[in-house]
Amino acid sequence: MAVSTTLLAILLLPILLTTTTHAADTPFLGFPSPWTSPSNNSDSSWAAAYAQAVAFVANLTLTEKVNLTTGTGWQADRCVGNTGGVPRLGFRGMCLMDGPVGVRYTDHNSVFPAGINVGATFSRRLMRLRGEALGAEFRGKGVDVMLGPVAGPLGRVPQGGRNWEGFSPDPYLAGVAMAETIRGIQSRGVVACAKHYILNEQEHYRGSVDVRIDDRTMHELYLWPFADAVRAGVGSVMCSYNRINGTYACENEWTTNHVLKNELGFPGFVVSDWAAQHTTLGSALGGLDMAMPGDSGPLPYRSWWGGALTEAVLKEEVPQWRLDDMAVRIMAAHFKVRAAADNYTFRPDINFSAWTNQSLGYLHPSSNNSLATVNEFVNVQSNHAALVREIGAKSIVLLKNAASLLPLRSPPSIAVIGSDAQDPPSGNPNACPDRGCPQGIGMGTTAMGYGSGTAEYPYLISPASALRAYAVSHNISFTNPPSSSNSNWDLPAAVDLARNASVAIVFASALAGEGYMTVDGNAGDRNNLSLWENGGALIRAVAGVNRNTVVVLHTPGPVLVKEMEGNPNVSAILWAGYPGQESGNALVDVLFGAVNPRGRSPFTWAETEADYGVGLALMDHVPVGEDPNNERRPTPVQRFEEGVFVDYRWFQTGRGRVVYPFGYGLSYSKFRYADLRVVRREDVPGKYPPAGGMTGPAPTYGVVERGDLTKYTPPAAFERISPYVYPWLNSSEGFVAGGGGGGGGNSSQFPAAATNGSAQPVLLASGAPGGNLGLYEVLYTITASIKNEGEVAGTEIPQLVSPRIARSHADNMSSWGGEDNPWGVLRGFDEVELEPEETKTVTFELTRRDVSNWNTTTQNWEITDREKFVFVGSNVRDIHLNASLPAPVGMKWRIG
Ligand code: BGC
Repeated sequence: MAVSTTLLAILLLPILLTTTTHAADTPFLGFPSPWTSPSNNSDSSWAAAYAQAVAFVANLTLTEKVNLTTGTGWQADRCVGNTGGVPRLGFRGMCLMDGPVGVRYTDHNSVFPAGINVGATFSRRLMRLRGEALGAEFRGKGVDVMLGPVAGPLGRVPQGGRNWEGFSPDPYLAGVAMAETIRGIQSRGVVACAKHYILNEQEHYRGSVDVRIDDRTMHELYLWPFADAVRAGVGSVMCSYNRINGTYACENEWTTNHVLKNELGFPGFVVSDWAAQHTTLGSALGGLDMAMPGDSGPLPYRSWWGGALTEAVLKEEVPQWRLDDMAVRIMAAHFKVRAAADNYTFRPDINFSAWTNQSLGYLHPSSNNSLATVNEFVNVQSNHAALVREIGAKSIVLLKNAASLLPLRSPPSIAVIGSDAQDPPSGNPNACPDRGCPQGIGMGTTAMGYGSGTAEYPYLISPASALRAYAVSHNISFTNPPSSSNSNWDLPAAVDLARNASVAIVFASALAGEGYMTVDGNAGDRNNLSLWENGGALIRAVAGVNRNTVVVLHTPGPVLVKEMEGNPNVSAILWAGYPGQESGNALVDVLFGAVNPRGRSPFTWAETEADYGVGLALMDHVPVGEDPNNERRPTPVQRFEEGVFVDYRWFQTGRGRVVYPFGYGLSYSKFRYADLRVVRREDVPGKYPPAGGMTGPAPTYGVVERGDLTKYTPPAAFERISPYVYPWLNSSEGFVAGGGGGGGGNSSQFPAAATNGSAQPVLLASGAPGGNLGLYEVLYTITASIKNEGEVAGTEIPQLVSPRIARSHADNMSSWGGEDNPWGVLRGFDEVELEPEETKTVTFELTRRDVSNWNTTTQNWEITDREKFVFVGSNVRDIHLNASLPAPVGMKWRIG
């Protein structure tokens, strides 16, 4: 491992040195923290929810408001995150649960395919259905907030440990998936949480790394899917562990106040990642609204908020309007989703405990307090298994199918080889906590990654068991040794099996996960892009003796497949991602042709790690920077110098070798494209009216009485349980929190603007959730016809690529568009189901945002005057049709 890390560093060095460096033009605007108001958004469901929230918050005392903002402490209540409630008004605290593949730490739930599989479906329908099913399951357990979906990491580095929780390193695809998932979840009465905001692109140093990024890359790449999330009405956003341009994400006034709340007009609440909050005032003034898990701060409150926030408000270091805004945002998100779920007129009780499988347990486990029935074992799975299987099958990407070996047509015999095909040796797919152990040791087949993004399997259909069942019912001779003796290291045994079968199906996987666990020497991020557990050698050995070798990969992203792609005996390669509980059944559907493969790779497969152009920041090549927060440890600085050139955008520059491109995937059928038509909207000009004017002043609800502090201590008869976090002061005698409430400084350390509640100018690009409504106006409607010329029904995924800087129609992928724009980026896709000989028309809509760049000087989206084109094809490299985009109304192209 050490060798590959060092090698990577050496290989990357010249790349980093020659990469365009963007000017450090990031504006550090961001005070005061924007107060939400219905006037800065146009979505009527937010407006109604805001009114309800204001009515609710107007009745609250200071400590009741603080109670909504602060977690009660790790394991202090039954969920992974719990806020205080308002018992006086019968409002129980909120329950927050991971996410995103199913309800974590419970039972009788489903395990859905991972985000990366959902990305691979390129299907809005399946994205939405999965969101709805997830929402229904969280709702059924009494959860208020689902901690997902994920668009950060976006997937800058292919080794990133948590990329599989998200959808794709392409922001357009990720943005569509975010929006559909969020709409689905929230339609069932559960607040979705778009996480991790933002630039938490790797697990190494996630709690300290300082990401340096320019404003344009931020807008055009990493922010894009979060903008879609906000536009879709997401109720909450989780700020991440890392720093951005010197400041922690959870107190970063640029990313949170300026970009998210002001420019994107986010009306909901920002919740910290677990223990990602570092100060009382910095976080409050920097735009955080909810602190989780609540007890990660210093004494005397053991919380940065809770009593410390009450003190800070009483001392006027945090203005009352800021606290009121936190409470309104939290309650508005809550009321918005309750209203959205028409069928739900009540708020279900929490009916499980994340901390025990038993029915009896503590209501407050961290203090062993209040023994009660905590698990009711409510079955929330409904008929979701069918959807899990459908997404599993439709996310499988067929990378290679030489001589049309697939679909298999009743071969006399098949051998199933590899520990990744097997049932878990112990019989229990949940044997490893948070799935954090290698498959050979206890896990069997890989169908999810490890870390907090997991859920307990209700069952797991392994490929071996599904293939056995299929073979038995179809008279196919089947060999698969018992899992206990099926070691990837016993190559002679594998060769024996393979030699005697007409088709050898060999399985290999790679694990990735969250950095709090180290699996086989990998601390969350993968150490390399190799297959785990001798997978590469196993495939080589099997293919050495069987000409009909089918390779199945369960990986969180790319692995190095160049060798198998070139091996003539490897007839087929399928990437099945992390498919969830129906893994084996989904695979059988594709192998035997019940489902014609239609998944498309949501990332690029390169020849070597170095081809990706970026790598993990690891110990031996992290530039250690200055120490902005005066911590004892030096801060690792990670400069995103490649700008927008990640994944296929990078490969378009011709500087990396591709095996399978982004968007690639084969079918059992073939499709012909024709008749590209571009229609410009004559009523929509190229330039849109910027937002303007002023906000209202910050509203406050109720009056904070200072003087008599006994109001802010617990009622006389109240018995505190320790270590539960309360909103009360420790003493009515005076303030006890450290400077500014626990080492957080005092408000004089912030610009005066930070506490200024007067009316503020409205940003040009703002005006509605997701940004200025003009960004989403359709400028062009593009149509093409697609015909199924194969012999079987199939689904084609046409992809629209629209270059920012066009050169000529003859432009090809090996020549880069030049300047600092990618050659062309994904700006549309669809799923077109076609019977043999059938033709259908596909329609794409290009919005103003789709053809704009972020202008860092004007701080607005603008369509540049460079001539632009549009391409339609079956992936970003396989373009079948192209046309000019006429200049938008009121604009003229500069040609050449
Ligand atoms: C993860 C989050 C997760 C939280 C609660 C953190 O370590 O980064 O994604 O939601 O824990 O489990």
